[in-house]
Amino acid sequence: MSSGLFITFEGIDGSGKSTQAKMLVERLMADGLSVLHTREPGGSDGAEEIRQLLLTGDPDRWSAETEILLFTAARRDHLEKVIEPATERGDIVISDRFADSTRVYQGATRGDLRPMVDRLHEQMIGREPDLTFIVDMDPQKALSRGLARGSGEDRFEDFGLGFQETLRHGFLSLARDFQDRCVVIDGDRAAEQIAAEILAHVMDRL
Ligand code: TMP
Repeated sequence: MSSGLFITFEGIDGSGKSTQAKMLVERLMADGLSVLHTREPGGSDGAEEIRQLLLTGDPDRWSAETEILLFTAARRDHLEKVIEPATERGDIVISDRFADSTRVYQGATRGDLRPMVDRLHEQMIGREPDLTFIVDMDPQKALSRGLARGSGEDRFEDFGLGFQETLRHGFLSLARDFQDRCVVIDGDRAAEQIAAEILAHVMDRL
């Protein structure tokens, strides 16, 4: 049984969600709370190895179907080894991306693979976050920010602007489907202003 709070950040590439996740972690830690900061793909040793396979190389390296399997394998390891133990201890887990990314990136961009994503999620993961922040951002602005970072993990940014626009609509539609846990945040503002809004939502839940 889990008792801690599981919070996720989602959004298109370059939306600023990682900055917001980090700011929230720092703020809650400063308040003396026990917080675990993690990310997907990755977050456990095995999942970080899978991350390298997924995020580097040619955009056509994997089909969407193969990606679903790899992301789900990474998530299962992350869940077993990191997320579940932390929430069982009562920690607040803050993850930069989780299953909503698979629903949108793999489920809604290259044909309708959402039923496949949902089936696999139900069988292998079976867990939703308690609270999800969807950081919304204009894809043109977000893409220039994402590529400017030059992280070397740009396989999805390399699909281009149309892909990012599809993702944005996917995330907004997901927020309507999961209204109980999803909060859409306007990402086109000063980081401190966004962080204050996010913190208020978290304090409500705590
Ligand atoms: P990041 O840039 O937030 O670290 O995310 C890495 C990339 O992986 C990003 O382009 C989104 C993509 N991704 C998916 O396509 N499916 C997933 O399930 C996850 C977790 C990430």
